[in-house]
Amino acid sequence: MTSRTAILGGTGLTHPEHFEIERRDGVETPFGKPSADLLYGTLFGQSVVFLARHGNPHVIPPHRINYRANLWALKEAGVERVLAIAAVGGITQAMGPSVIAIPEQLIDYTYGRDHTYFEEDLDHVTHIDFTEPYTPALRQSLIDAAERGGIAIVDRGVYGCTQGPRLETPAEILKMERDGCDLVGMTGMPEASLAREIELDYAVCAVVANWAAGKQPGAITMAEIEDNLKLGMAHLGQLLQHWQPGT
Ligand code: HPA
Repeated sequence: MTSRTAILGGTGLTHPEHFEIERRDGVETPFGKPSADLLYGTLFGQSVVFLARHGNPHVIPPHRINYRANLWALKEAGVERVLAIAAVGGITQAMGPSVIAIPEQLIDYTYGRDHTYFEEDLDHVTHIDFTEPYTPALRQSLIDAAERGGIAIVDRGVYGCTQGPRLETPAEILKMERDGCDLVGMTGMPEASLAREIELDYAVCAVVANWAAGKQPGAITMAEIEDNLKLGMAHLGQLLQHWQPGT
């Protein structure tokens, strides 16, 4: 059976716990190879396709991910909706380490990424609507899952996508905060807009790995990121257990 749901796993989720792999498929797209094989299997009884955004092993940095190939491969596989899991830094007060947030808006600070399917052999210039960058019904299904499972999440937020791979300066984070960002990550764009261009439903579960630069004293360490992600991913597992994405 074709699974209509895909999970795009980020840092800390190269392979989800409880995911039972049935088969893998190494595919090629007109835009090149996706980050890894598509893994078909079941997660808590639901059939899903899983793709590790940074590759398996985790070796592709955010600015080198072939976002176009990743989403194209999922579309070609018959997927209709994509749940993107993303490790982020927390900027505003509600977004502390290990929190799960379901953002509803984004700001794109990236540059130089292949960010559209609409650039060659066009019959006409296309401008997609991006008023709601995340599919409202898919966001709601995640919020409903949290409610059903009694799992604490933050059901809002503005995700700011930076270029990486370096983390930000405190001055950059303050600027982002003034812009209205609650969360900072490096992979949210162009993933979200590419999904919209090829009519895939798309929403993000952001897992806070650390306070963003300058939001706590001292440097951000990889050890702290890994510890918080472990905790956050355990919460995420509970959320997915209660998730009913549709048929
Ligand atoms: N900044 C950008 N991306 C991130 C961060 C951060 O602080 N933490 C995890 N991903």
